[in-house]
Amino acid sequence: MAEQENEELASSDLGTLDFWEHAYAQELDNFRDHGDVGEIWFGAANSRKIVRWIATKLDLNKECDKIIDVGCGNAMTLVELAKEGFANLMGVDYSQKAVNLARMILNDNNLSNVKLEVCDILNNTLPHDFKLVHDKGTYDAISLSPEDPTVKRQKYIENIHRILLPKGYLVLTSCNWTKEELLKHFTNYFEFESQLPTDTFQFGGQTGNVVTQLVFRKK
Ligand SMILES: C[S@@+](CC[C@H](N)C(=O)[O-])C[C@H]1O[C@@H](n2cnc3c(N)ncnc32)[C@H](O)[C@@H]1O
Repeated sequence: MAEQENEELASSDLGTLDFWEHAYAQELDNFRDHGDVGEIWFGAANSRKIVRWIATKLDLNKECDKIIDVGCGNAMTLVELAKEGFANLMGVDYSQKAVNLARMILNDNNLSNVKLEVCDILNNTLPHDFKLVHDKGTYDAISLSPEDPTVKRQKYIENIHRILLPKGYLVLTSCNWTKEELLKHFTNYFEFESQLPTDTFQFGGQTGNVVTQLVFRKK
């Protein structure tokens, strides 16, 4: 038991709906005031890199294949995916305010065809026909939950597995877990496919990744 507890991250406000509702209330005000889309988690260049990777390295039909961004926040990844020509896009977030912001930003980009839904990925009735799930920072946020993070992480993995088509892709970006840790969490349900190159830094003679970006395929 003690060993399992040690495998969890220290809990944080970022693991609560309250935190995100407050954060997106502020970002909604900013967007209305001066058109600022808010935080691009892990940076805009990084976000574009993932989208380019999805568009060029994965076996996808841009017209038909359904792509869902779980914990889509302000929907900027969906905007980038649409710019790459993906036509069957959906975003979900458990924060109503995030979805309100996402809708305004999508409309501003003439992307009212992108579907949006308020949805807790841990407890959802989403269809089971997605070819790709994109997650940037949402598994991280769930991992920081002050209550039952082990149970929630497991539920997340099972739910993502369920909504994907056979051999569907999970493209995951994390700043809290290493590649080795993510492989340990996911490989009962997913096969590891590839790792995106990440910017690394040196500290005390050791090189470490800033973020871990992995592509898995549903088993
Ligand atoms: C670090 S932010 C990343 C937002 C977005 N993916 C991005 O890259 O800008 C984490 C997001 O996950 C959402 N989130 C956290 N737990 C969730 C859950 N159980 N179901 C759906 N969304 C969740 C939060 O509301 C927040 O928008």
